[in-house]
Amino acid sequence: MKAAILGTTGYTGLLLARLLADHPEVDQILPVSSSKAGRKLSEVDPGFQDPKAKIPDEGTLQSLETAQDQNPEVVFSALPHLESARLCAPFLGKSVIIDLSADFRLKSIETFRAAYGSPPPRADLLDQAVYGLTEWHREAVRSSDLIANPGCYPTSVLLPLLPVARAGLIGGEIHVSSISGISGAGRKVKAEYLFCERSENACAYAPGKRHRHVSEMEEQLRGEAPEASILFVPHLAPLRKGMTSTIMVPLSRKVTEQEVAALFDSAYGAAPFVGLRGSGIPQTAEVRGSNRCDIGWQIEGGTLLLFSVLDNLMKGASGQAVQNMNVRMGFPETSGLSLAGEI
Ligand SMILES: NC(=O)c1ccc[n+]([C@@H]2O[C@H](COP(=O)([O-])OP(=O)(O)OC[C@H]3O[C@@H](n4cnc5c(N)ncnc54)[C@H](OP(=O)(O)O)[C@@H]3O)[C@@H](O)[C@H]2O)c1
Repeated sequence: MKAAILGTTGYTGLLLARLLADHPEVDQILPVSSSKAGRKLSEVDPGFQDPKAKIPDEGTLQSLETAQDQNPEVVFSALPHLESARLCAPFLGKSVIIDLSADFRLKSIETFRAAYGSPPPRADLLDQAVYGLTEWHREAVRSSDLIANPGCYPTSVLLPLLPVARAGLIGGEIHVSSISGISGAGRKVKAEYLFCERSENACAYAPGKRHRHVSEMEEQLRGEAPEASILFVPHLAPLRKGMTSTIMVPLSRKVTEQEVAALFDSAYGAAPFVGLRGSGIPQTAEVRGSNRCDIGWQIEGGTLLLFSVLDNLMKGASGQAVQNMNVRMGFPETSGLSLAGEI
């Protein structure tokens, strides 16, 4: 199978190239770059290995036009929002598109405009897009040619919250406090992300509705609990990658930790990439490099505490994108993806 990557030289694009180079079902990779076409991928990422020579022309980055001429079966778009839909939409009808940006994630044009400052670039295609939170939309992903890969914060919040919402346990405003590693902001050079600014330093940013991912979380959550609302406070911490979310849910009725365990078992018992940790509190290092999201839970009075961790570049982005490709193309869901991660 032939797969193209748009925006290859960003963090999620580089990781996609590494994952696809190891993927047993992918024979050819077309790495597209707007800024570095003609250069070798190994110049941008000297750690990249391609032992099966899956990239043509000895690992050369390509232009968009060259990739289009080669009719890839799958196109991953690892481009910034607003750019992404514009550049990957021409592949629709010929390739399966898996878009890592926000451009196809929201169904409401007004919500998109409020979050991103302009209308969705291809509003005409929103109806065709499936929200690629694999564990919740696996059947729809199987037959979709346009998959909107979720954001990293929404993945870390929705996987723990959706089973609770489906069970009718949400009794008021949900409070979420999340911490992200710096790679969540991408590879672009900005003074605020320099080592000297971020090391030994942590802070909250874009609290409340100011963070764009709130609308994505609420739109998805309201499919299960129409009144649900979220107060979200994200934080940046001096980690290269990794994300943890603590979710505080006011309960609509009394439940035990065992009942909550049963809910999670029924939602994720057969899901290879969700680790259920009971009352244990998971840590980011335990899922680093893996495609897992691990979830723990405790009850404190009338509040259900949910704890989740994931690697923002894996289950939060490129790993989930490959998981969606696996489901869509009929490959084993775990193909080319690590369960164990790194030590
Ligand atoms: N980082 C994360 O943890 C994460 C998690 C979930 C989702 N995402 C989403 O995934 C997408 C890629 O994220 P990323 O972290 O890989 O971003 P990134 O490191 O900033 O890379 C984006 C790449 O897009 C290409 N590009 C093309 N047109 C561009 C333009 N006008 N401005 C800037 N870049 C342009 C560039 O690659 P070429 O020059 O090679 O074309 C650039 O390296 C984004 O939509 C992001 O929101 C990221």
